[in-house]
Amino acid sequence: MLVVENVSKQYGNFQVLNSIQLEFQNGIYGLLAPNGAGKTTLIKMLATLMFPTKGEILYNGTNIVHLDDKYRDVLGYLPQHFGYYKNYSPEKYLFYLAALKGLNKSTAKQRIKELLTLVGLEDVRHKKMKKFSGGMIQRVGIAQAMLNDPKILILDEPTAGLDPKERSRFRKILTSLARDRIIILSTHIVSDVESIANQIIMMKDKKILYKDTVADISNQLKGMLFETQVSLTEGDQFRANYQIIGERQERGKLFFRFVAEQKQDESWIEISPTLEDVFLHVYEDDQTLAGSM
Ligand SMILES: Nc1ncnc2c1ncn2[C@@H]1O[C@H](COP(=O)(O)OP(=O)(O)O)[C@@H](O)[C@H]1O
Ligand SMILES: [Mg+2]
Repeated sequence: MLVVENVSKQYGNFQVLNSIQLEFQNGIYGLLAPNGAGKTTLIKMLATLMFPTKGEILYNGTNIVHLDDKYRDVLGYLPQHFGYYKNYSPEKYLFYLAALKGLNKSTAKQRIKELLTLVGLEDVRHKKMKKFSGGMIQRVGIAQAMLNDPKILILDEPTAGLDPKERSRFRKILTSLARDRIIILSTHIVSDVESIANQIIMMKDKKILYKDTVADISNQLKGMLFETQVSLTEGDQFRANYQIIGERQERGKLFFRFVAEQKQDESWIEISPTLEDVFLHVYEDDQTLAGSM
């Protein structure tokens, strides 16, 4: 079990995380928040690339800093900006990393073969990576993070720049890896984690806002989410009165999806909230959202 115990992080005087408390058991965790919320900061501390200003991170009861190499042996990490060698093939690159990690040659050979199959790159294993699409590179990224068959796999924004098909493929690979390990995946895109995460962790104002299942977080808006239609001239008034989650114009009418404390008009239709609705609701006025979409 991995425990983040009362962790705070400051860069100089600038505080990014404040008293973070988290527990991870085996399963997939989606760390979901807009850009600038502190996801990478938290992940770098989980990967021992940075250290908390206050608090500690424990793996099976021991501070990961003290575990040192013993912790890194069970850790797999895909950074947000993943450096690879464009002129290497995935196979050559993985052999190179396996050597750095001290895997013996026959173990490495077997493992690399399995991983290239897992991520669907066996056919291109000898091709130079400079010809690869973003999705293919990210699959190399998963393979390198999985070299040591880690108990903790941490992926920082692994789907950035992938097309919908590549995202879907990525989700399938992760699901297949989720047994018997902790997978922590950060993203600012709801659909990346909605269908695969056992738990979603949402961060806001330097703190953990929610750590719960998709269903339970979605329920935060239960009874408060509605749809209705108004005439074009009433649009501005309506926007001023309610938090709009979505709107569209159709046949000379405005259709709003919006949040209200309770049903106030017969014409309103209550709808079932999704994680995306809660995400938009929670971060509506969030400064960190600016420029992230
Ligand atoms: N090395 C650093 N020095 C100073 N500020 C930083 C540093 N790294 C990140 N920040 C700031 O900390 C905040 C959180 O950044 P980050 O952890 O990268 O968030 P996220 O990954 O959620 O986008 C941002 O305001 C960012 O500008
Ligand atoms: Mg980040």
